[in-house]
Formats: sequence, C-alpha cells, structure tokens
Amino acid sequence: MDRLKGKKCVVTGGARGIGRAIALAFAREGADIAILDRNEELAATTARDAEAIGVCAFAITADVSDETSATAALQRAEQALGSVDVLVNNAGIGGNALLVDLSVEAWDRMIAVNLRSVFLCTRVVLPGMISRRWGRIISTSSQLAHKGGIELVHYCAAKAGILGFTRALAYEVAQHGITVNAICPGPIETDMSTTLSDAWRARKLAELPLGRFGTVEEIAPTAVLLASDEGSYYTGASLNPNGGDVMI
Ligand code: NAI
Repeated sequence: MDRLKGKKCVVTGGARGIGRAIALAFAREGADIAILDRNEELAATTARDAEAIGVCAFAITADVSDETSATAALQRAEQALGSVDVLVNNAGIGGNALLVDLSVEAWDRMIAVNLRSVFLCTRVVLPGMISRRWGRIISTSSQLAHKGGIELVHYCAAKAGILGFTRALAYEVAQHGITVNAICPGPIETDMSTTLSDAWRARKLAELPLGRFGTVEEIAPTAVLLASDEGSYYTGASLNPNGGDVMI
C-alpha cells in the first residue's frame, strides 16, 4: 500500500481489461489517475471505481492513434493532474489475418493504435519528466513480440516495435532519472481475447505450461513494480508475466 502515493499517472486503454486492472492497482497504491480511452462510458466507470478507492481520478476520451486527439488528451491530463509521473501506454487492438489477406488499411490501423500511439503519448509527457528528473514510461507489449504467431504479422510487428522503442528511449532518458520498460503478457482473459477462435484458444491452452489463460490481476502487479521505487533498477527491460509460454 502507498507505493505510489502522490504519483500522478496516466493509463491509456484504462477503460477495461488489463488497463483497468493497472489503473485500479495504481489507485490502491495511492496514485492519482487519468484514464485515457476511446470508450467514454467504461473509462468513466473505471475512473469512478478508482475514485471510490480514495484517490483523484478522471476519464479523458481520446483516440491514442490520432496525433491531435492523443496530444490534446495528454496535455489535458498533465494540466489536470499537475504533472505526469507515470505513463502506461496500454491501449491496443487485436486482429487476425494471414499476410496474404492483410489489407494495407488493417496493417496501418494496427501499427497506428498499437505502436504510433506509444510515440504520440510519450512525447507529450517526456519534457515534464525530464525537467522534474523523474519519470516512468511503461508500455504493454506482448509475449507475441518474442514468439510470433500465425495471422498476427501486424500485431507482432507493432508489439516488437514497442520493445525497440523501449530500449532506445531507455538509453536516451536514463540520465534524466526516467526509466522506460515494457510488459509482455501472455494470453489473458479479457474482451480482446474473447475474439480469438476456438481453435486458436485450444492450441494455446495445450502449449501453455501453466495450462490456463492469465487474469488481469496477474498483470497489474508488474506495472506497480515498474512504476514504484521498488522497480527503480529496471530500464529498457521487458517483463514477462506469461504463464511460461515464452521462457526468456
Ligand atoms: P481490451 O480490448 O480489453 O482493452 C483495450 C482498451 O484499449 C479498451 O478499453 C479500448 O477501448 C482501448 N483502446 C483501443 N484502441 C484505442 C484507441 N485508438 N484509443 C484509445 N483507446 C483505445 O484489451 P486488453 O486485453 O486489456 O489489452 C490491453 C493491452 O494488452 C493491449 O495493448 C493488448 O495488445 C495487450 N495484450 C493483451 C493480451 C491479452 O491476451 N488480452 C496479451 C498480451 C498483450
């Protein structure tokens, strides 16, 4: 408790799923939270639930893949919170298609939501972190960045891109007291994973050492660790709560 007391945090994609669990875990640790999501209603619900824990929390509706929308949203968060100490780049979409069937539009959308957004959101909050000489950038990648997966060329490319972004930025900003890390979850029970085909799910369950999909509550503690002082010696890292699916 209180490991993030007084910290000002933004969680993108915080309306539901992994992002919601991270936002609520941060709130339980005493952080003030801005929930940034395109889903206005669910973002407001998460903000209310965080507020009920006893911190300041509010929702901002935005599309993180859009330059104007993402920039304005992060600026608003910074203004309302007073600063942004921790940014969790978590918003993302799924999608399945063989490369031979993958349209340019689907490729571009995947890269925009899952990778471009990380750049767009991070660049707004970084100058403030640099001037305060403290900051945490945490991005939700995926175990599939390491492992690959059939019908997931665009998803894996975006998630692997986050790892490159994380390592490169970690070098740039370490001197300013800022750490940059990624979380690579394994398969987690969320609305996103319900879109997987039965065959895909059965295949995955068969190869998972722990024999089950994870829960969002099994991912949030990794984000708390990376955001808190206990995680101060991680940078450029990817942490892998993945049920043993990729052992690295
Ligand atoms: P989810 O679909 O339950 O939640 C994603 C959230 O992001 C939603 O609230 C959605 O409204 C928001 N979002 C999507 N596009 C957005 C946009 N353009 N602008 C603003 N908000 C947007 O998904 P889940 O499972 O919670 O995933 C969260 C992150 O974790 C994603 O980046 C996903 O790729 C990643 N991940 C998920 C895994 C899983 O098995 N569920 C495994 C590994 C990584």
